[in-house]
Amino acid sequence: MKILYFVTSNKGKYIEAEEKLREIKNIKLEQKRIDYPEIQADTLEEVVEYGIEYLKKKLKKPFILEDAGLFIEHLNGFPGVYSAYVFKTIGCKGILSLLDDMEERNAYFKSVIGFYDPRTNEKKIFKGISKGEISFEMRGTQGFGYDPIFIPEGESRTFGEMETKEKNRYSHRGKSFEKLASFFKKLKIENFKV
Ligand code: IMP
Repeated sequence: MKILYFVTSNKGKYIEAEEKLREIKNIKLEQKRIDYPEIQADTLEEVVEYGIEYLKKKLKKPFILEDAGLFIEHLNGFPGVYSAYVFKTIGCKGILSLLDDMEERNAYFKSVIGFYDPRTNEKKIFKGISKGEISFEMRGTQGFGYDPIFIPEGESRTFGEMETKEKNRYSHRGKSFEKLASFFKKLKIENFKV
């Protein structure tokens, strides 16, 4: 069994990732809480690239990290790369107030995963997007972050009203981790030295 570190302090992200990678029998995902600088950049990809460069000097085993954001069309993509700060400051209620009773509520979540294997120096990026809309009120107590106000396309419930497995079926993270899982399936496991 090979260990793959998921560098995150967010238990919710780890639970969702673990659900997606469970089927890869030879890999065991392990949550690793190490702080790394989340630089203020224009894109999630830049944040991830910077994180990899920082962490590869500290970790001797293969690792992944992930950065995500909520992009609201009517607010020109806000909060986007500022999602964590905006969540801490105004939260879901603040986002609902910004949209007021606006009918135009399209939004999407984006997830970017960075994978790095120190033995082979291999670096890979996997992305996932979940389109949907912002609800008119907060609904549900599951998940984390903006989950109570995001309704994915094809659903009437928010992510906050879904179990992990259901959220993963629609979510940005479910999609990016699906790509990571396919990558591991193609990779000869004996080459994935730990
Ligand atoms: P980060 O990827 O941890 O930087 O996330 C940025 C912000 O978006 C944080 O406030 C998270 O709580 C929020 N966020 C990230 N992914 C999700 C998600 O899947 N659902 C709801 N909120 C999320």
